[in-house]
Amino acid sequence: MGCLNKQLDPTLTGVESEQLDSDLRKRIVGQEEAIEQIVNTYQTYLAGMSSPGRPVGNLLFLGPTGSGKTRMVEAAAESLVGDARAVVKIDCAEFQHSHEISKLIGSPPGYLGHRETHALLSQEVLNQYHTEKIKLSLVLFDEIEKASDALWNLLLGILDKATLTLGDNRRVDFSRAMIFMTSNLGASEMNSLLRPNLGFAAGEVERRQAAGMVDDTLSEKVSRAGVEAARRKFTPEFMNRIDKTVVFRPLGEGELRKILALELDIVQQRIFNSAHGAPFVFSLTDGAQDFLLREGTDLKYGARHLKRAIDRNLVHSLSNLIATAQVRAGDLLRVGYDSALQRLTFVKEAEDVPAYAMVQMLDRSAAPRWGAVSASAAVEMPGAANAKSSRR
Ligand SMILES: Nc1ncnc2c1ncn2[C@@H]1O[C@H](COP(=O)(O)OP(=O)(O)O)[C@@H](O)[C@H]1O
Ligand SMILES: [Mg+2]
Repeated sequence: MGCLNKQLDPTLTGVESEQLDSDLRKRIVGQEEAIEQIVNTYQTYLAGMSSPGRPVGNLLFLGPTGSGKTRMVEAAAESLVGDARAVVKIDCAEFQHSHEISKLIGSPPGYLGHRETHALLSQEVLNQYHTEKIKLSLVLFDEIEKASDALWNLLLGILDKATLTLGDNRRVDFSRAMIFMTSNLGASEMNSLLRPNLGFAAGEVERRQAAGMVDDTLSEKVSRAGVEAARRKFTPEFMNRIDKTVVFRPLGEGELRKILALELDIVQQRIFNSAHGAPFVFSLTDGAQDFLLREGTDLKYGARHLKRAIDRNLVHSLSNLIATAQVRAGDLLRVGYDSALQRLTFVKEAEDVPAYAMVQMLDRSAAPRWGAVSASAAVEMPGAANAKSSRR
């Protein structure tokens, strides 16, 4: 045992938390600070260094609607448990009255209807997604600004002591839970700070940010506006129990475009994994992407309606094309936009594309995404030389 004097690097992270980090970055556009906080909290948990008698972490996510607060928690569940639904989610707006609180904790014994009430927040519910490897629960209190006083008190107890007492006096232990709370509080203050830079100038702000010409101060101001709004609304008692408050940034046009690409990817994966067994590949022209962005995103609601716009305009039509056998396995579809009719158009560009070539196209699409896959990819594709092209 000599004197080693070896420098250690405390910034290195373990393999598991690195996996979580990269999974989150694949699924979430921007919002790096929130990703860092989740990964740090997870790493602390894995190392057994979380404070005893408290939840693994109490994280508060602030920021505008549709900026990815809820999605972030689902993405963490996807990474850790393999299922986005593996989150114990409490929509605070649904528990406004005292009888609704009893849905969460069950009623006292002897109370009328006691037998029928199963507490939504029991230990079994909390532990239901534990795996051999990970005994961690993700609990989300969504939109806490809507919580009633009763729910608020219950939440304070969980944050502080990691326990909840059910109606029948059983205790629920939250010391293996990561608690997430979201609120869009402060969003309007944040928006008014950003407004001169939003709208048509959004692209300009992003360009300048990318070039490092702005915007740390603006970014700091926006974060501060969010945190100050939270301090005004929430009691110090509550704020003191939060380990970390993260302010989500409003999404600019470039970010919304990336989110669209992610969502289209998910639709494409669904086609490949569907029990229907007729895999085909689709790509969207720039016009079609612009249309979906206009329909599904805006500065006020972020990406909130994007999925719905994709379902309504794309998935629904694709389903019809499948059901009527107009699209078959091995087809390559180009989805365009007809501005006169204001709807998407569907053109078969090639057929009988071999499965391996389709898979290659999907892998390659990582770089320029779907918009750029287009017909030229079909021509380059090995084995697609004999594919009929309806390209004009
Ligand atoms: N930063 C983001 N990265 C990836 N997808 C996002 C992001 N923000 C929003 N989305 C998309 O928009 C939808 C709505 O976002 P959500 O997380 O529910 O917003 P909120 O901040 O209001 O909780 C998500 O399901 C996801 O599809
Ligand atoms: Mg939300």
